Amino acid sequence: MTVHHKMDAPDRANRLDDMAQGVLGTPMDRPDGPLKVSGKAPYAHEVQPEGMLHGYFVRADRIGRVADMDDAEARAMAGVRGVFLGGRLARNPCQGTADEAPVQPDRDVYYVGQPVALAVAETFEAARAAAAAVRLRIEDADRAPVHPESYETPDAKQSSQGDLEAAMASAAHTVDAAFTTPGHNSAAMEPHATIAQWDGDRLTIRAACQMLNYNRNEIADAVGIDPANVRILSPYVGGGFGSKLGIAPDAIGAAVAARELGAPVAVALTRQQVFEATMRRSETRQRIRLAADAEGRLSGVGHEAWVSNLPDESFSEPVTQATAFTYQGANRVIGHHIARISRTCAGSVRAPGEAVGVAAFEIAMDELAVAAGVDAVELRRRNVPAEDPSQGIPFSSNMLREALDDGAKSFGWDASMPAPASRREGEWLIGQGMASAVRVNMIGEAKARVTLHPEGRAVVETDMTDIGTGTYAILTQLAAEMLGLDPRNVETRLGDSEFPQGPGSGGSWGASSSGSSVYLACRDLRTLLAAKMDCTEEELTLKDGRAVAGNRAVALAEIMDGPVAGEGHIEPGETGDAVRQATWGAYFCEVGVNAVTGETRVRRMHGSFAAGRILNPKTARSQCLGGMTFGIGMALTEELIHDPRDGHVVNRDLAEYHLPVNLDVPQMTVNLLEERDPWANPMQAKGIGELGICGSAAAVVNAIYSATGVRVRDLPAMLDKVLAGLPEDA
Ligand code: MOS
Repeated sequence: MTVHHKMDAPDRANRLDDMAQGVLGTPMDRPDGPLKVSGKAPYAHEVQPEGMLHGYFVRADRIGRVADMDDAEARAMAGVRGVFLGGRLARNPCQGTADEAPVQPDRDVYYVGQPVALAVAETFEAARAAAAAVRLRIEDADRAPVHPESYETPDAKQSSQGDLEAAMASAAHTVDAAFTTPGHNSAAMEPHATIAQWDGDRLTIRAACQMLNYNRNEIADAVGIDPANVRILSPYVGGGFGSKLGIAPDAIGAAVAARELGAPVAVALTRQQVFEATMRRSETRQRIRLAADAEGRLSGVGHEAWVSNLPDESFSEPVTQATAFTYQGANRVIGHHIARISRTCAGSVRAPGEAVGVAAFEIAMDELAVAAGVDAVELRRRNVPAEDPSQGIPFSSNMLREALDDGAKSFGWDASMPAPASRREGEWLIGQGMASAVRVNMIGEAKARVTLHPEGRAVVETDMTDIGTGTYAILTQLAAEMLGLDPRNVETRLGDSEFPQGPGSGGSWGASSSGSSVYLACRDLRTLLAAKMDCTEEELTLKDGRAVAGNRAVALAEIMDGPVAGEGHIEPGETGDAVRQATWGAYFCEVGVNAVTGETRVRRMHGSFAAGRILNPKTARSQCLGGMTFGIGMALTEELIHDPRDGHVVNRDLAEYHLPVNLDVPQMTVNLLEERDPWANPMQAKGIGELGICGSAAAVVNAIYSATGVRVRDLPAMLDKVLAGLPEDA
């Protein structure tokens, strides 16, 4: 049996609050934690079959077309088994939820660093040496420039309401400012890796993947086989952040070479290859216009974005995604422009859209607060709209005001609007800054199977992944809660494409979608057990491995003949369109800026967030801490640098690509606000994975303004940008 549920109407039953166990909503440790910290959790490159060969990509060092390849020297080297060029092999990385093969450049080189050939040998070192010995002759071909020169303006991505120009002309206060953000790399700790093995026409892929149900179709299409003949195993993933949503070149290279050579082949990207040949987040240019009355109430909002991608790629960074509904303002312009350039493929990286769009917008809001002489928190409170102003539909919930108030209180926000550069401690200028957090909420179709055993244990199975986000913990808690079991008696199995198809980890929908499918599978089991107890599912209590109805309590073994499987299936429905669903929050930050060097140190940071029911406050908090940490990086140091001559990625490793490290991150605090959102799914929970990065950089940048009077609109706020504007007497 399957319990199928389509989200066409809000689910107000609120069943999870009635369950007897009290496991869900507690900060349970990750069951996979001990395996990970002791090195026993097998990652993609670690389960190595007998006779496995190693592949290493040959990198194109210029843009053009591969006219010829001289691999004689490479093939003659000890241990080398083959060199493969073009055909199905060399591809762009695949976009998230693509569900089909990525763009296939074959011998066309669209960006420097593109993998074009694969050398395979008996050891990794031999393969790398062979790859270095391959001589490519790349001839000129007509390719896009490496810098944006012109932009496409697709009609479907432009919108306008009312008359923004008129609103700007008659406003008491306006902001009209340009912002830039650089490209980013996901920079997951685990580099992309695949081991491919053929058994006849069946292909098994061990890879680092976020979304197996899509990835299976992508690899099948790329290699040219039936998806039913592909099995992907991804039980543990060392971070994805978008770069593993779709398959990367390692998966296809390994599969193609393994088929040709009749032996298992591993392809592990080096850190440099991860930077060059997996997704980048597009750099953005943004123009933000705000028109407000004397009290700072918005009458107009304009947000236009300029982004880039390779020719033929359909993704483009959805910079203005949250602008449509975050604040009021009857007169609105949204614009989106795409340049086709010859740089590494652009795709989803850590909250595509909001991460950079809300960040720039929240700097502009700070500028408006200064212009209008209204406290930054109060300005935002005044502009929370009654409904989605772009579509005229209600919010499923809007917790922005609550998050602003809770955050201001927890942080100790000074609402007296202290003048910039008015607080100093020795060499350090001290300032405070804040920003709103907002991220769209979605669910994806998801299935799960839960098998209950009479002795009081259960097994959860779905092809969902845990990319460090806490899926193992959350699904274990859910099944324990619904079935009245100790979580130690629930085993969650993930990351096998043979399991029922989940939503994958992406877009912050993983826990809420796969959780809903597990919830429904447990409802299925509860219904079966209730029939044995002559009661309704609602009347049934399951607790401590016993079923209780009325005055009757029995051990599960008494009403079960053997293991029983329940299946759950959640599908998105009309609640996705009838209401605007989002998650909300607010960031508060204190920085010190060194008056001599311009260096910024974040001294304190707080976030208050609302995302419906919180399934596990420990994993949810960790996601928020991670997002705020990335916000510090985005504000101060993180920047993908492209060589101006040929567009290649210059800072291709974690020494030169400056993510925040321990010393950059102060103690941070997170409050998770109590909420239920019945429109989201039957659990009334929303995705919190990416919320913490959606605007957090702005809180840091706004604090720099408060500390120094320097307004940075060009991220990251490196020393030179701050130093140049420091007050003379500082
Ligand atoms: Mo996310 S950037 O959808 O992994």
